[in-house]
Amino acid sequence: MSENLVTQGGLRLTPLTPVFAARAEGVDLRKPLTPAQQAAISAAMDRYAVLVFPGQPFVDDEQLAFGRQFGEIEETPTLVDQARRRLADNQVNDISNLGADGKILAADDRRRMFNLGNLLWHSDSSFKPTPAHWSMLNARVIPPEGGETEFADMRAAWDALPEKMKARIRDLVTEHSLIYSRAQLGFEAFSPEEVARCTPVPQRLVRRHPGSGRLSLYLSAHIGAIQGWPRPEAMALIRELTEFATQPRFVYSHGWSVGDLVVWDNRCTMHRGRPYEDKIWPRDMRRVTLKDCAPTLEQAA
Ligand code: OGA
Ligand code: MN
Repeated sequence: MSENLVTQGGLRLTPLTPVFAARAEGVDLRKPLTPAQQAAISAAMDRYAVLVFPGQPFVDDEQLAFGRQFGEIEETPTLVDQARRRLADNQVNDISNLGADGKILAADDRRRMFNLGNLLWHSDSSFKPTPAHWSMLNARVIPPEGGETEFADMRAAWDALPEKMKARIRDLVTEHSLIYSRAQLGFEAFSPEEVARCTPVPQRLVRRHPGSGRLSLYLSAHIGAIQGWPRPEAMALIRELTEFATQPRFVYSHGWSVGDLVVWDNRCTMHRGRPYEDKIWPRDMRRVTLKDCAPTLEQAA
């Protein structure tokens, strides 16, 4: 775990757990990457699935330019109160507790209620027909305590499942919607128009991660059903798998410093935010997200 690998383009990698995640240093991500640096980052992402780049104090345009070197960027219309957005650019996801006036959201603000969904283990945009590929989260302002982000390795979790369970779940198709994840926290105040925008989408429960060739669980708080299964039976299984896959041996917990950029692969990890005193301290994080190539059912099994 203390090995320190220097790869192409001067990228230095230090593994953070025995199974996945590495600290990545030696490259200024605000400058255009050389082909060698780009290849080194892609290879490291395929291997580690989570990379922590300390000391990358982006502004939004720099963060977008970094992301565009690796693929197509998702648009991020939020489900609720889109008109009250704080950030100008629709491709920058506002992961903060702040309103458009820069002030901390009121305790009962609907956006605050909605954002609390990030505390549940999930994979970004799994509720979209074509879900997320990588997420790139940059810390601009952090609270004095709490507010860590935890990541769990879904390839290692798959590998560790009993063979009988693997056979049972290998071909299952789940249904994902934002309505399902928010309902878990009792947030049910969706307008008919919001409900219409949240039609459940089907995704494979087990997918193959192209860059490593490894199989991975594809779990998320957005799952609300398994096709062909009674819902309580489906949700009991999803809960069992989620508990299994988020045991400490599969988890890396990131305590943020300002300027950290953490990049994770949503195809083979889950993550969740940890609580902090969000009615007192500002926390301003910005996320740029790459779009995957196709719905999981259209990808090679
Ligand atoms: C995200 C997310 C959790 C956090 O940015 O997608 O889930 O800790 N963030 O802010
Ligand atoms: Mn997320």
